[in-house]
Amino acid sequence: MWGGRFAEGPSAIMREINASIPFDKALWREDIAGSRAHVAMLAAQDIVSAADAETIDAGLAAIAEEYARDGVPEDWSLEDIHMTVEARLTELIGPVAGRLHTARSRNDQVATDFRLWVRHACEESDAALARLQAALVTRAGEHSASIMPGFTHLQIAQPVTLGHHLLAYYEMFERDRSRFADARARMDQCPLGSAALAGTGFVLDRDATAAALGFAQPTRNSLDAVSDRDFALDYLMAASQCALHLSRLAEEMILWASQPFGFIKLPDSLSTGSSIMPQKRNPDAAELVRGHAGRIVGCVTALMVTMKGLPLAYSKDMQDDKPPVFEAAGLLELSLAAMTGMVADSAFNTARMRQLAEQGHATATDLADWLVRAADIPFREAHHITGAAVKRADERGVALDQLALADLQAIDARIDERVFGALSVEASVAARTSYGGTAPERVCEQVKAARERLGLE
Ligand code: ARG
Repeated sequence: MWGGRFAEGPSAIMREINASIPFDKALWREDIAGSRAHVAMLAAQDIVSAADAETIDAGLAAIAEEYARDGVPEDWSLEDIHMTVEARLTELIGPVAGRLHTARSRNDQVATDFRLWVRHACEESDAALARLQAALVTRAGEHSASIMPGFTHLQIAQPVTLGHHLLAYYEMFERDRSRFADARARMDQCPLGSAALAGTGFVLDRDATAAALGFAQPTRNSLDAVSDRDFALDYLMAASQCALHLSRLAEEMILWASQPFGFIKLPDSLSTGSSIMPQKRNPDAAELVRGHAGRIVGCVTALMVTMKGLPLAYSKDMQDDKPPVFEAAGLLELSLAAMTGMVADSAFNTARMRQLAEQGHATATDLADWLVRAADIPFREAHHITGAAVKRADERGVALDQLALADLQAIDARIDERVFGALSVEASVAARTSYGGTAPERVCEQVKAARERLGLE
């Protein structure tokens, strides 16, 4: 492609280190779409003849069919997907293929192809997140009143509803969706026509190519357009944060599936056995989601470090932008699908959850709240009285709501029998009706609102 200046060809090592075709062949659809938009614009601008443009377009369409059928051939000497397509086009239609690269460089070409790919990845992640949210909301609706222990410091804190707990993840994934949408909106500018770095002297219609490829507008600065990989970083950062949320959910599922918790039975289809211990059911899929999150964070780190020292404009280091993005996108897609299956098909042991919620004096705060409300005691004092009641319950070896009224009244005479109405786990969750609180009625409202946002009703 550049033979004119050289006396000798590249060595085998040069060819190998230079070749991106093993991974950038994944961009073949975007590359051909970009070329078709470019040649149509060149014809409309009278830069190539209508007849040549038609020949080129038909050739590109034939290549697309070929690749869809047979895959993309991998020839290192052709370096990358852009050269591979152009070489094939030359084989098919002859020297007229050489007109396609008028007013274009691989620098604006690859920036355009990659943006198209990443933009699509944002859409795929969003759709997969919506499926996971739908699973969460469905299970939350089933369990709006199922009581489980809520934890802080992994110590039993206050009773919550399982539906409320599941909806906490719904919210995280909602923020992830907004990050992907935000990334998508920011990358919605077309670099094509920026050429190598400085723009071109040909009179292009960059709005036309941008529109043909579904971009909102062309990029405004040719140097930035060919040097920028923020769009890939934006995607990876959104993916990392999403992976972090998936990892936290996976971690909880792993804990919940362990015998000491016994909250959940993961579906057979997403569990594994042991080759030696016949009784085992291991949460491998959840563990791999947790593990994959680490790799996805590694991908964003890799591209950050690749980009951080590069002068304007294009440097070949930037060819290394694709493997981390492709890797992260693949891992994220699998992780989202695995967690969706786990949420949708796990069996919750609500009896066990409720049993554990009754341990650890989880309704102690309700006693303190009752003292504030029924006896007008300042909260700090009520907290102190309740602490003494908890101590007495521990001494007696009973739960707080099993203490005799006489025991409670010995601690504070203002306590009367009405207090027992506040100390059950049901009363505790039912009382938490503040907006965003765990009360079943609040959870039902949030489930309904979420279902509406997801278009499920
Ligand atoms: N394979 C290259 C990449 O992925 C395409 C751009 C090559 N540009 C260049 N000036 N050598 O980045």
